[in-house]
Amino acid sequence: MYMVDLIRKKRNGGELSAAEIRHLVQGYAKGEIPDYQMSAWAMAVYFQGMTSRETADLTLEMVRSGDEVDLSAIQGRKVDKHSTGGVGDTTTLILAPLVAAAGVTVAKLSGRGLGHTGGTIDKLESFSGFSTSLSKEEFVHQVNRIGVAVTGQTADITPADKQLYGLRDVTATVDSIPLIASSIMSKKIAAGADAIVLDVKTGKGAFMKDKKQAIRLAQTMVDIGNHVGRRTVAVISDMNQPLGFAVGNALEVREAIETLKGEGPQDLTELCLTLGAQMVVLSGKATSPLEARKILEQKMRDGTALEKFCQLIASQGGDAKAVMEPDHFLPKAKYQEEVSSPKTGYISALEAEKIGLAAMHLGAGRETKEAAIDYAVGLVLNKKVGDSVHFGETVAVLHANDKHKLQAAKDQLLKAVTYATDPVASPDLIQGEVTEDGVFRQP
Ligand code: URA
Ligand code: CA
Repeated sequence: MYMVDLIRKKRNGGELSAAEIRHLVQGYAKGEIPDYQMSAWAMAVYFQGMTSRETADLTLEMVRSGDEVDLSAIQGRKVDKHSTGGVGDTTTLILAPLVAAAGVTVAKLSGRGLGHTGGTIDKLESFSGFSTSLSKEEFVHQVNRIGVAVTGQTADITPADKQLYGLRDVTATVDSIPLIASSIMSKKIAAGADAIVLDVKTGKGAFMKDKKQAIRLAQTMVDIGNHVGRRTVAVISDMNQPLGFAVGNALEVREAIETLKGEGPQDLTELCLTLGAQMVVLSGKATSPLEARKILEQKMRDGTALEKFCQLIASQGGDAKAVMEPDHFLPKAKYQEEVSSPKTGYISALEAEKIGLAAMHLGAGRETKEAAIDYAVGLVLNKKVGDSVHFGETVAVLHANDKHKLQAAKDQLLKAVTYATDPVASPDLIQGEVTEDGVFRQP
């Protein structure tokens, strides 16, 4: 088999066989196929696409290129969740204890963030003493005991995807639906989940700028999951502004605590209930999303969701007092500075990406893999799209430990805000749901 023939076949719109895809992925992972040929193939896929069979085969070959996590020692149906992009995404932090409180088994392997704010693992490290490097035995034992654990990833998962993603990044081939779908799904499948709920973002802060594209990406991922025996459901959600108000690690943890109590921001709560309901249904603990949602709302109201969060923190060595008294026991920044509005009118856009950059300027995220994170810093928005605003009114509060970083962060934040003189509707958060049975719009 020659790589040049496979490139030509794809360039001409043909369909590669399973054996051809195996040759290509395993050859690339082993270093036998050079970057230039792999790039040419990726570009051919960008223009010609792939059939759903090819996409599923590509996914499985990337899974086989590395370790597959075996969660069979854990009882119950393991349900995982993944968001495609998004700035300061706190949903995992909330969903893990929330759905665990409803009896869903959550065995979560999480990464560290590279970017605006930390990943879920970094956010959890806002709790002093919290361990994110559980051994396999500790992980299994904890999930079997309390129904939830979140740990850093040590297994060498999907190395072929890592290599290919790096190559796509520098060859303008990231934004291909079959390549994104297989990349994301290969990691979820290798991480051992039995069922997967996807949060596919659409809008300015997302890969998929428009809803039609987002639905196609969701359908492609749902197809892959169901093709390989992992039930998969996707929710399409708006990413034209950040979720909730907080951006920054400990600040987002506080917001997560509020949300677990049922007192969080409306949009963050709505997305968590929507995604969580799908997780509960896939786990078999409810028969419809509506029934599942009622269970989750009850868990917020009666304190069991928060209690589960305390259990999770304490089991992994963290200081659970901080869950009950975040003001006393979570890291706090030295300086708080208000950013006031230069205009009167309505907020018409809040670019999540730019707001994330403002938080990163303050030290909330990493610019390089080795950089340290300041858990305390970040920002809290005071306004969302559709809100009215007066000149001089506070649009956000910056939390900083270094006074010298405030000005740059303030300038960056103001660049993220667009104003209108006429009233602006607030965007619909949930744009639809995609299951194996088709596309549904939220009622
Ligand atoms: N996230 C991934 O993991 N892979 C992609 O290709 C795009 C987003
Ligand atoms: Ca947030």
